[in-house]
Amino acid sequence: MKHIQSYISEHKERFLTELIDLLKIPSISADSTYKNDVLKTADTIKISLEKAGCDSVEICTTDGYPIVYSEKIIDKNLPTILVYGHYDVQPPDPIALWDSPPFEPVIKSTEKHPDGAIFARGACDDKGQMYMHVKAMEFMTSTNQLPCNVKFMIEGEEEVGSANLATFVKNNQEKLKNDVILISDTGMIANDVPSITTGLRGLSYVEVEVTGPDRDLHSGLYGGAVANPINILTKMIASLHDENNHITIPGFYDKVEELSKEERAEMAKAPFSLENYKKALNIDSVYGEAGFTTNERNSIRPTLDVNGIWGGYIGEGAKTVIASKAYAKISMRLVPHQDWVDITQLFKSHFESIAPKGTTVKVTPHHGGQGYVTPINSIGYQAASQAYQDTFGKTPIPQRSGGSIPIVALFEQELKSKTILMGFGLDSDAIHSPNEHFGVWNYLKGIETIPLFYKYYTELSK
Ligand code: BES
Ligand code: MN
Ligand code: MN
Repeated sequence: MKHIQSYISEHKERFLTELIDLLKIPSISADSTYKNDVLKTADTIKISLEKAGCDSVEICTTDGYPIVYSEKIIDKNLPTILVYGHYDVQPPDPIALWDSPPFEPVIKSTEKHPDGAIFARGACDDKGQMYMHVKAMEFMTSTNQLPCNVKFMIEGEEEVGSANLATFVKNNQEKLKNDVILISDTGMIANDVPSITTGLRGLSYVEVEVTGPDRDLHSGLYGGAVANPINILTKMIASLHDENNHITIPGFYDKVEELSKEERAEMAKAPFSLENYKKALNIDSVYGEAGFTTNERNSIRPTLDVNGIWGGYIGEGAKTVIASKAYAKISMRLVPHQDWVDITQLFKSHFESIAPKGTTVKVTPHHGGQGYVTPINSIGYQAASQAYQDTFGKTPIPQRSGGSIPIVALFEQELKSKTILMGFGLDSDAIHSPNEHFGVWNYLKGIETIPLFYKYYTELSK
């Protein structure tokens, strides 16, 4: 595309300032204290889409946070790209572990980002990556190079399960009609090893509660004679994996997609250093399901992890007590063909069945979604691959990710189109963690690569 590089170098400072302003608004969807900030973020995005040359921009209200929707239709005979992203962010906790406040963005260089990275909650997930699309749009409209139709759908509830977006999509199939969906909300292997995400894991998230006696008891007077819910809960959780780290829930693996030897060999070609992996996490060994490599364990295999566990006395000093209740939050990452509703049911029946006499167990499903795989022979994948080839000077590697964007499977089901996941973040960017950041180089590279996707997709569609 003409002048993309000079356009970026000319407007670089403004691109950064605009993103920094967006990152200053704490749009935490999980915490209702931030309601006005989440709403303000939607308004800010609406204005930025208008400035980027979209013809109609609407704030679509839902039962939760609004969806910012906009379009630019230049010719009904040309293909339509639907861009999806999210403007909500994860809570920043634990705040004390941030080197600078999460909503006061600063640019600092790091080992992986010698040209600097923007440190703020949402920098990479997903405000920074979503905003690349707004700036790419600005470039294409202002230089008269938009080659096809575009629709933008930016939501504010991705981090809390996208329930209202699901309803919106089901009710607006005609409006959202498109040929391909484009998302930047994933990562790539390294700045010199570009990759395109071809798979996302599904998810089932549940909360469990174990109740023993109907009130907290003296641990001396009653200890040893009644079921202690915390002892029981930890024992039950421990039993969910066997000595090979296989999950023991009956039927859990029944539908798991098994990859062929050839597919696994292909995957193993992606550059990966176990030494660097361990070093980056400060661990002396990796851990996981027997018979699979680290990259397989975190992408093509399902998992079960406790995300939080609590109960009893956790204040200062000691209190001798047997708590009445113990709790845990558990997530299961799923792979293609595992249905999240089925798995949630399997978990519930199994967990209830292993509760010993003297306790009662309650399993409450939170949210979930199906996994997703996108083919590498589609026009969309080919267009993305050519775009990266131009801007990175290398053919990108297809790579399945361990993360989840549950709405993607629903897009395919309801809108019948494939999604292309052009992510520009790195695993080390600390999304959901303290000190989240996004490389300045990555941000600008994204803005440079996106218009080329539009160009190649339109050409290949002819
Ligand atoms: N953008 C992430 C998902 C992601 C990150 C996928 C990196 C692949 C690579 C998204 O915002 C996210 O955090 N998803 C949640 C699920 C959601 C239902 C809360 C997740 O994966 O935990
Ligand atoms: Mn995200
Ligand atoms: Mn996220």
